[in-house]
Amino acid sequence: MTTLHATAAGLVGDGKGILAADESIGTMSRRLEDAGVAPTEEHRRAYRELLVTTADLARGISGVILCEETLHQQVADGRGFPTALAALGLATGVKVDTGTAPLAGAPGETVTEGLDGLADRVASCAARGAVFAKWRAVLAIGHGTPGAWAIEANTHALARYARVCQDAGVVPVVEPEVLTAGSHPLEVCAAITRRVLSALRRALDEAGVDPAGMVLKPNMVTPGAGAAPVDPDGVARATVEVLTATMPDDLAGVAFLSGGQSSEDAAAHLTAIRALPTPWPVTFSFGRALVSPALAAWAGDPGAVGAGQAALTREVGRNVAVAA
Ligand code: 13P
Repeated sequence: MTTLHATAAGLVGDGKGILAADESIGTMSRRLEDAGVAPTEEHRRAYRELLVTTADLARGISGVILCEETLHQQVADGRGFPTALAALGLATGVKVDTGTAPLAGAPGETVTEGLDGLADRVASCAARGAVFAKWRAVLAIGHGTPGAWAIEANTHALARYARVCQDAGVVPVVEPEVLTAGSHPLEVCAAITRRVLSALRRALDEAGVDPAGMVLKPNMVTPGAGAAPVDPDGVARATVEVLTATMPDDLAGVAFLSGGQSSEDAAAHLTAIRALPTPWPVTFSFGRALVSPALAAWAGDPGAVGAGQAALTREVGRNVAVAA
């Protein structure tokens, strides 16, 4: 097994998942402000330190995705985050896309950017200790969207990113997110997710990306956030059907995003998905579903770090797969 394969397998194995703590500076600042915390660099750092130093985090978490700002910051004792994570038995990942921009030729749609200079940035993140990376494409369901051009542009960029990472010995976490916004039924999400993942598969093949050295981070197939909910078994069946129809059997694993679902819904859906047979390990790479309760409990109070960490421990515990 190559190092790339071993790293990818380690991220999704043993029932553990990936903690996504890589909100961009802008997004993290908004979330801090919403929690009543001043959006300073130090508060962003202190919040990430709270998360990654949670006792026994490595029992349920294999790796943590950071943004580039955090990759350059230190925990209180002066060690860089990647060094502190490694000492805790956690792999360091880094978000390397630079966010979305309007896609010319597709009014109202976006493409994720960050390909310029990507090889150099990935190499410099790897030199700082990152062993995996993340790139998120965003596709919204609307009248006639996502269009073919937005799907093509975004999946092409994901494949180019993934190949750059693998050439640098870094495991790509490939995130094509179909958003839940809207009141469409589950069947529409299923059809669009299938189109997106089929296009992604073609692009990954064309770029020569090794499936066993990457992790797919997809949305679950759910009705729109404004539509009547479907029971977890229905979500699980639709999700597994779309993924098995589009993805190769030798993928290292699938680690779902939570996409704004409540912590309870995301965990219930993941449990139902895990109950179905799949050719690859299935786990979580949640952001909000894991960290929102911790942020609310901490709210910038140095005396509430323990409460924030207890909330994170509870959410991780909900999602770790119990050995059969
Ligand atoms: P959510 O689980 O909050 O969707 O975040 C996952 C993620 O990494 C988004 O890029």
